[in-house]
Amino acid sequence: MRILRGKDYGEMSLLAARIMAAKILSNPSCVLGLATGSTPIGLYDKLVKWNEEGILDFSKVTTVNLDEYKGLTPDNDQSYRYFMNTHLFDRVNIRKDHTFVPDGTEKDEEKACADYNRILEEVGPADIQLLGIGRNGHIGFNEPGDAFIPLTHSVQLTESTIEANSRFFATLEEVPKKAYTMGMKTILNAKTVLIVASGKDKAQAVHDAFEGPVTPACPASVLQLHSDVVLAADEDALSLM
Ligand code: PGA
Repeated sequence: MRILRGKDYGEMSLLAARIMAAKILSNPSCVLGLATGSTPIGLYDKLVKWNEEGILDFSKVTTVNLDEYKGLTPDNDQSYRYFMNTHLFDRVNIRKDHTFVPDGTEKDEEKACADYNRILEEVGPADIQLLGIGRNGHIGFNEPGDAFIPLTHSVQLTESTIEANSRFFATLEEVPKKAYTMGMKTILNAKTVLIVASGKDKAQAVHDAFEGPVTPACPASVLQLHSDVVLAADEDALSLM
């Protein structure tokens, strides 16, 4: 694993964005595995800036996202499709039909997962997979559990996640209770994994992921089995390493 140490969130975002940009520059038809959450926003802003300046061209890029809430439509501002459109896709010259996110509107869970697995098969392994990390060590919606689940699957959100998300919705009933997420085998099949972390509240998870045992109790620890992982983090997130 290589560690890119930024002194703060801004510097970490720049270091991480350079890795993504290098992938696109070296292979304009690359497949990017993308992530949502607050941590990658600074990285996406940098990619947008370089696209506006004519340095980065997204016209041949394909993207696959990690996860999506079940039951949210793309125009719902809490859906991950909406997040991606807002933070990246609507701001660069990417072809929307080359961007893939699990279909949160598909009620049949088996079909939703099978459809997404088929897309992932067709598109091929990501040249680089971007990941955030949860405070509990989750990656995508692969939450701590008894086993690593290999392919796309539906996940029951924990009460605490539902509770935490409720601030974004008018009523508790509207908060998604389930999500579809890419599985661990797909994540590990990416040629390079870029994981971003910022802040003291991620320090324990980062430590457990890379200095603890490989265990589904800390899903990100599976990345110790991958031969090309880049951890871009700020000093706070690295404070226990
Ligand atoms: P965050 O989420 O970037 O909003 O902290 C990361 C994650 O939960 O994967």
